[in-house]
Amino acid sequence: MTRTIGVSGLGSIGRQHADAFRSIPDVRVVAFEPAPALRESALAEGRADVVHATFPALLAERPDAIVIAAPDPAHLAQLGDATAAGIPVLVEKPLATDAASAAAALPGLEATGTPVVVGYVLRHRRAVQRSRALVADGAIGEPVSFQILLGAYGTITAAANRFATPEPDRLYRDYSHEWDYLRWILGPVREVLAVARTTPAVPHVESPNLVDALLVLESGVVGAVHLDYVEPAGTRLLTIVGTEGILMTDVARGRVTVRRAGADDAVEDLAEPPSAPLTRQAAHLLAVADGREAPVAGLRDGLAALEVAAALIRSAPGRTWEKVS
Ligand SMILES: NC(=O)c1ccc[n+]([C@@H]2O[C@H](COP(=O)([O-])OP(=O)(O)OC[C@H]3O[C@@H](n4cnc5c(N)ncnc54)[C@H](O)[C@@H]3O)[C@@H](O)[C@H]2O)c1
Repeated sequence: MTRTIGVSGLGSIGRQHADAFRSIPDVRVVAFEPAPALRESALAEGRADVVHATFPALLAERPDAIVIAAPDPAHLAQLGDATAAGIPVLVEKPLATDAASAAAALPGLEATGTPVVVGYVLRHRRAVQRSRALVADGAIGEPVSFQILLGAYGTITAAANRFATPEPDRLYRDYSHEWDYLRWILGPVREVLAVARTTPAVPHVESPNLVDALLVLESGVVGAVHLDYVEPAGTRLLTIVGTEGILMTDVARGRVTVRRAGADDAVEDLAEPPSAPLTRQAAHLLAVADGREAPVAGLRDGLAALEVAAALIRSAPGRTWEKVS
């Protein structure tokens, strides 16, 4: 049986979603893209069977599920329309432009009973899944501290269209991935302290482009996070210190290392192309739409990540400790 997936927004990530679904047998892609040139190129490249010029026209196709890969300000409205029509959704992160509007929309979205997956694709990355399993299995004993390092100047060039529109504090939301996988592995964040800076020493200057933060988790675990739109090589590292060892995950390059006293490092190479977790997430959406799986990352997870971002944004101006709602 052929299933139809609707993709809203054929920009940088929307095109990757379309390709991920097209790589799955018996899936047909239809789309909505407001830019005429992108509509034409998507058809010419065979990325979608049909590309509509309005979102209602995409909904009228009654696809089996919809991916919302539109700019952040469109996420909640399209999510509202799709869930009200009973069409399961994968909405790209962040769920909304801010935590308050996401929190206000959540009850209505949940009341529809339509399943929603939030695009925290790192939950489908093997190195992250393995790290979570190692922590849960006690491979490093009890976690006591962590460090996260994210260097992402490359995102600015990879998603140039999105970065052409100025958006203050984008770094906290763009990398809400970090707030999500941290919570998935180590539990919710209770309190944060952020120091934000803006260096002009790069060609494209986001404000801020450097954030360093301390996070206190509900469990009492404390950790430091560094995010930037400065470092050009592309780095995403997670280190978790435990009572019986240390876990060091190179998320970007797929290398997971467990070090314990008196033993050789246990190193696992879980490298994979970026399309692999995206395709896993696509298969997950199909399973959610069929009722075979519950969303791995759902609306509450989308809101939780935005709440951490909001607390950090409140903290930075006065360098004050802020509680996460
Ligand atoms: N999960 C991830 O790793 C990841 C990666 C990149 C982007 N994203 C998210 O995906 C979204 C899109 O990012 P991008 O980098 O592809 O941006 P982009 O600017 O490259 O693409 C956005 C596309 O949406 C189109 N568009 C504009 N208004 C629209 C509307 N109302 N409905 C549908 N389409 C509309 C634009 O014409 C453009 O083609 C953002 O929310 C971003 O945060 C997630």
